[in-house]
Amino acid sequence: MRTHFCGLIDESMVGRTVTLCGWADVARDLGGLCFIDLRDHEGIVQVVAEPSDAEGNADVVTTAAKVGYEDCLRVTGTVRRRESVNPKIRTGQVEVVATAIEVLNKAEPLPFHHHENPGEDIRLKYRYLDLRSPEMQRRMRTRTKLVAALRRWLDARDFQDIETPILTKATPEGARDFLVPARMHEGEFYALPQSPQLFKQILMMAGFDRYYQIARCFRDEALRADRQLEFTQLDMEFAWVDEAIVQDTVEQMMQDVFREVVGVELGAFPRMTWAEAMRRYGSDKPDLRIALELVDVDDQVRGSQFKVFTDVAGVDGLRVCALRIPGGAALSRKQIDEYAAHAAKYGAKGLAYAKIGEDGAVNSPVAKFFDEAAFAALLQHVGASNGDIVFFGAGAYNTVSDFMGAVRLKAGKDFGLVEDGWKPLWVTDFPMFEFDDEAQRYVALHHPFTAPAVDDIDDLRANARTATSRGYDMVLNGNEIGGGSIRIHRPRMQAAVFELLGIGAEEQQAKFGFLLDALKYGAPPHGGIAFGIDRIAALMAGTESIRDVIAFPKTTTAQCLMTGAPSPIEDAQLAEVHVAVRPKAQPAA
Ligand code: AMO
Ligand code: AMP
Repeated sequence: MRTHFCGLIDESMVGRTVTLCGWADVARDLGGLCFIDLRDHEGIVQVVAEPSDAEGNADVVTTAAKVGYEDCLRVTGTVRRRESVNPKIRTGQVEVVATAIEVLNKAEPLPFHHHENPGEDIRLKYRYLDLRSPEMQRRMRTRTKLVAALRRWLDARDFQDIETPILTKATPEGARDFLVPARMHEGEFYALPQSPQLFKQILMMAGFDRYYQIARCFRDEALRADRQLEFTQLDMEFAWVDEAIVQDTVEQMMQDVFREVVGVELGAFPRMTWAEAMRRYGSDKPDLRIALELVDVDDQVRGSQFKVFTDVAGVDGLRVCALRIPGGAALSRKQIDEYAAHAAKYGAKGLAYAKIGEDGAVNSPVAKFFDEAAFAALLQHVGASNGDIVFFGAGAYNTVSDFMGAVRLKAGKDFGLVEDGWKPLWVTDFPMFEFDDEAQRYVALHHPFTAPAVDDIDDLRANARTATSRGYDMVLNGNEIGGGSIRIHRPRMQAAVFELLGIGAEEQQAKFGFLLDALKYGAPPHGGIAFGIDRIAALMAGTESIRDVIAFPKTTTAQCLMTGAPSPIEDAQLAEVHVAVRPKAQPAA
């Protein structure tokens, strides 16, 4: 149908006759002279329909005059140099003078045009129109290049690509499962995998040495800009390794792939323990592009009369800390309230502050609880100077870290303190367990198959609260892009960890019997990691939302606006899979 791509016409083709296919991005009729921006996946080229002596050319102008947005065209014409060069497009030096224009398919009036900056809902409903835009084409191509580069890298190093089931057994990793009713087994269900975790471990026990898979994962959890119900991992597992081999290998992979796909040198990744990340940045995925750090102030507040601080200072599991924001004294009362409201979303009960005016005058609702020298010493400890604001957080250690970390990120953005560039790091030495106060039991911070740092079961039992794991996360610019661990490879340790997680012997057999069995027959030490492909692609493409690098994503309300999924199913079809839908609860009168 065509001889060339629109976006690749260049000066070397001047004088040549070409046939192009594409969409009318814009069509302008200047009365007898028509310009059409013809667009395909490679880009845009200007087509001109102008009167000439040539026979049949009147038809060309008449046809061109009727062309509308997104009409599907086939154009034959001659390439010539443009009089007024358009530096904004790659083909801006040339244009195509049409000798024939064929309308292959007329487009109805559009619900939107990508020039208009449409809202996301309408983009998702008409995703095929949205995906045609050069921006979305570019993003999707970045993703394709990423996946291709990863595969090449791994194939060259003998990683074996092995598929694992999508219809499987529920093997909880912390999120809610999607369930699929089993037609042939009344009342029973398959689960969709939250990740291939147990299958890849079993592959190591089955004699495979290095595995990878570009794997779709399914988690029924609340959606955000960086979370989808179904997302894609680069999933990897290695036999006979410790963390150094896994980390060094995938660090090298990321360096190579970022260089290849986006021309970025990531450099060596610094390492930081989870405890240090929480203490300095209030986050287990610190954005190191922002230079601000939290400062603990236990000693500086101890002598004050402010109970919120003194009750917390120096107490295990609690925290009082400060964050200095240079130039922050410019914040108005209303803006400070917005910071407090932001912190409240992360569990803050309040957000004390001290503004230090350009003249050095201090304005703070908590200064009155300190004698003047002590407050000055506190501000000095934090490094505050004229024109700054200092925020304070007090309460449970992890809560304070979370909300002060969130304040840090907001301030970084609001005050333009996010440096350009790429800041990767490893976060290591995570706590093995988190104590869930509501459920009064431990939950695994990574997943229940992660090895503890100690190899001794009694030691782990005795020190569960403070035990660290052999888990690690890869973080890039404040995003968790990968997470993994060295796994438990002995059945007794696995059973002990299940027990600590409140999973009794019977439940262990019912849910994880196959794993405990497999561990009995000479399971090698093994470990691995999984990367969020969607997140990495979004970072590479320079967009905040992973929806921009997924062809057909779900909305934050878990719907596909294009197909209308999820949707009701007829009773007959439900009966086949032995499912009855309960009538919706009537709202109370
Ligand atoms: P984890 O749960 O940390 O580990 O997931 C690995 C990486 O996948 C990405 N990710 C997501 N991306 C988009 N939407 C989601 N809902 C979502 N959830 C996670 C993140 C994350 O770092 N089986 C283990 C890996 C292992 O231990 O080897 C696992 O799945 O970038
Ligand atoms: P109050 O005396 O309760 O009005 O609090 C005085 C200041 O301390 C206010 O600015 C509150 O926002 C702040 N504050 C209260 N609780 C906390 C907390 N847990 N951490 C940080 N600041 C707090």
